[in-house]
Amino acid sequence: MARRHRNRDNNPDANRRQGRAIADLRQRLAGTGRVVVLTGAGVSAESGIPTFRDAQTGYWQRFRPEDLATAEAFRRDPQTVWRWYAQRRAAVQGVEPNPGHTALARLENRLSEFTLITQNVDGLHARAGSRRVLELHGNLLRVRCFSGCVSYSVGDGSPDARAAFDGDSSAAETVPEVPRCPHCGDYLRPDVVWFGENLPEQAIQRAFGAAESADLFLVVGTSAVVYPAAMLPRTALDCGATVVEINPDRTPLSTFVTLSIRGTAGEVLPRVIV
Ligand code: OAD
Repeated sequence: MARRHRNRDNNPDANRRQGRAIADLRQRLAGTGRVVVLTGAGVSAESGIPTFRDAQTGYWQRFRPEDLATAEAFRRDPQTVWRWYAQRRAAVQGVEPNPGHTALARLENRLSEFTLITQNVDGLHARAGSRRVLELHGNLLRVRCFSGCVSYSVGDGSPDARAAFDGDSSAAETVPEVPRCPHCGDYLRPDVVWFGENLPEQAIQRAFGAAESADLFLVVGTSAVVYPAAMLPRTALDCGATVVEINPDRTPLSTFVTLSIRGTAGEVLPRVIV
C-alpha cells in the first residue's frame, strides 16, 4: 500500500486525474439532496486496523474465516474465537478515528438527508462524531448471550458487563475463559455477524431504503465482494443515483460507478469535505 501511494505521489498524471475527480465530487456534493455513504474496512486502515483482504496485511490472508468467523467455529473452539475477538477489541480501543472518519462526520452535520452505512464493527465512525450510523455487521465492542438473553457493551457499568470484558487486556498473553451468560449459562459471543448468519433486519432494510432513494451514493474502502452489502451501490445505481467510489484499488464496482477516485479515505475525504 505504501509503495502504491508513493508511486502516485511521483506520478503527475495520476495526481491530476485524482485532483479532477475530487473537484468533480465536491461539486456534485454541493448540488445534491440525499447522500448515502457505504464504508468498509479500508476507511479504518489509516487508523491502524487491518482490512480483511488486502495482500499480506488482511485478516483473511492470515487466518481462515471458517476457523474464526462462523457459529460452528465458536461452538467447536470458543476460547480461540473469543480470544481473537478480545484481541481485536483491545486493538480498536487503542487507536483513534482518522481524517476519513472525521470528514464523514462533518458531512453528516452539513446535510439534512444523510445515511452512513458501515460494514465495520470497530465503532470508529461513532467515535469520530457520526450519529446516524447503520452497522450492518454488528459491533465488536458489544457481546451477547448465544441464546439471546443479554447484551453488554464495553463501558457498561454493571458488574456483569464488566466481567464480560475482564480478560480483554491480557488476551494477547493468556487464553481467556469464555464468559457465560449470568441468566442461562450459555456462552457470551461477540455481537458481530458471522458467515452464514443473517444481518440485523432493521439495519439492512433501512440501508436498502436509503440506497433506493439516494441522489448520491459514496462507496469508501470496501472490496465490494460481501453480500448483501455489495448490492447496495448497485441498487442505488439502478435507482438513478450518482455512485462514486473512493479506493486505492479497483474493485468489482469500478466499471459500473459514475466516478472512481483512486486514493485512500484519509487522503481523499478531507479534500472533498473541507
Ligand atoms: P476488505 O478487506 O474486503 O476490503 C478493503 C478495501 O479497502 C479494499 O478494496 C482495499 O483496496 C481498500 N482500502 C485499503 N486501504 C484503504 C484506505 N486507506 N482507504 C480506502 N480504501 C482502502 O474489507 P470489506 O470490504 O470491509 O465481514 O469487507 C467486507 C466484509 O468482509 C467485512 O465487513 C467482514 C469481512 O469478512 C464480517 O465481518 C461479517
